[in-house]
Amino acid sequence: MAFYVTTPIYYVNGEPHLGHAYSDMAADVLARHMRQRGEDVFFLTGTDEFGEPVAQQAEREGVTPRELGDRLAPRFQEMAAKVGASNDFFIRTTDEGHMRRVQEVVQRVYDNGHVYEGTYEGWYCPRCADFKTESELGEGNTCPIHKIELTRETEQNWFFALSKFQERLERLYEERPDFVAPDFRRNEALSFIKGGLQDVSLSRPNLKWGVPVPWDADQVIYVWFDALLNYYTALGYARDEDLTDRFWPAFHVIGKDILKFHAVYWPAFLMAAEIEVPRGMFIHGYLLMGEHKMSKSLGNVLDPFEVIERFGSDALRFYCFREVSFGRDGQISTAGFEQRYETELANDYGNLASRTLAMIDRYRGAVVPEAEPAPDLAADFDGAEERVRALLDGARISQALDEVWGLVRRLNRYVEETRPWDLAKDGAAAGPLDTALYSLAEGLRVVTLLLLPFLPDTAEKLLAALGEEDQDLSRLGARGGGQKVERLPPLFPKIET
Ligand code: MSP
Repeated sequence: MAFYVTTPIYYVNGEPHLGHAYSDMAADVLARHMRQRGEDVFFLTGTDEFGEPVAQQAEREGVTPRELGDRLAPRFQEMAAKVGASNDFFIRTTDEGHMRRVQEVVQRVYDNGHVYEGTYEGWYCPRCADFKTESELGEGNTCPIHKIELTRETEQNWFFALSKFQERLERLYEERPDFVAPDFRRNEALSFIKGGLQDVSLSRPNLKWGVPVPWDADQVIYVWFDALLNYYTALGYARDEDLTDRFWPAFHVIGKDILKFHAVYWPAFLMAAEIEVPRGMFIHGYLLMGEHKMSKSLGNVLDPFEVIERFGSDALRFYCFREVSFGRDGQISTAGFEQRYETELANDYGNLASRTLAMIDRYRGAVVPEAEPAPDLAADFDGAEERVRALLDGARISQALDEVWGLVRRLNRYVEETRPWDLAKDGAAAGPLDTALYSLAEGLRVVTLLLLPFLPDTAEKLLAALGEEDQDLSRLGARGGGQKVERLPPLFPKIET
């Protein structure tokens, strides 16, 4: 089966920060897990380079928007690589291939009769690139997100007849209850739809920085339609062959601030272009530091590059999904980071791995003994794989991690219960010692295969040390002993302070 997963594409109007890395890491967990299941995976991320958010920042810096994009897009690419994202392509909306296909689709929507010329009058936030309704405005006609005062705009432009799709959208939500997850976000989107949809601008007349409207050279396509279409256009030119039939429709991972665009405008626009709507989407919350979400303009940014430098990217991924339940908002902090690193990564998992490898080395000449698995331990592992699969089918990343972490803890209890170092002193206990060491090696191998999407670097090292060459989930079934193992330096070394 094909699995196509995407992240939002990021505005090139500032340096990447952890809020951006978050979507990359989440989509990567899903992509890696699906690859382990043997699925045909395509994973896309990239940058959103047109529209006011970029044009205005370029103006502030005294450079052209293209120069700004050329400087910052590689930074986002680098960030994706640093957090371990295994994306198959990195799209830039300034790519030729993207622009051409955007025009094709927009033209089709026009030809299908869903576009008309009209006058827009209302509030516009250039930082969100969003037209705000009266009810969305903050006090004193401000943008509720950017806290800047908005001006009332009147302009002649092209409209997309969103209102015509109200019923079809309602039906979509009814027929596909998991189209938008988590549920509270689905309800939010559905009540927005039920509140009555108004047509939206499809073009901008006073902006030069965008994809030209194919039938009107004086206007550019409203950046949100150009941006949303990236998910579709990329498949057309990422490889020599067109991948659309192989991978479309996509599963989108996005942040809560862009729900309306993805859960309402996007499926309607696809319907208008007669393209299949997304397979689904998961909306995550914000990582907060103090009161606020991280943002360049608020100046409270936790730099993922610095964090990775100190803790490694696996630790960053682990921390974000463990500390904040995926889908909810949650606080993160450097102190919290260090604590989880010590107690969970270094102690629960790192020590378990070191001890297991060291005991097999010392007591059994670095070869996993042949034995039957300890029955009570095996019973606790029963069904875990199915539960993890089901959770990740729904992008329940934190719950899936929690499920596996329960097994890590169970293995630690098993070490304390069996005390292999005591068994080793007792010549008559060779059988029980074989059982304990075999069960530990096997348990560690299984949890590590299940942790691979979360901790890819660590898992790769540890699986190799355990003599497991294959990362596929089909390897989870019990394996006999006999493998040569290798001791490893600490997987999560003490933090230098
Ligand atoms: N360019 C648009 C998205 C177009 S998608 C077709 C955009 N870009 S953005 O760079 O401003 O934000 C991209 C994503 O980063 C959003 O989903 C947003 O929710 C996410 N985050 C930005 N700060 C965040 C946190 N502090 N925490 C979690 N995610 C947040 O919007």
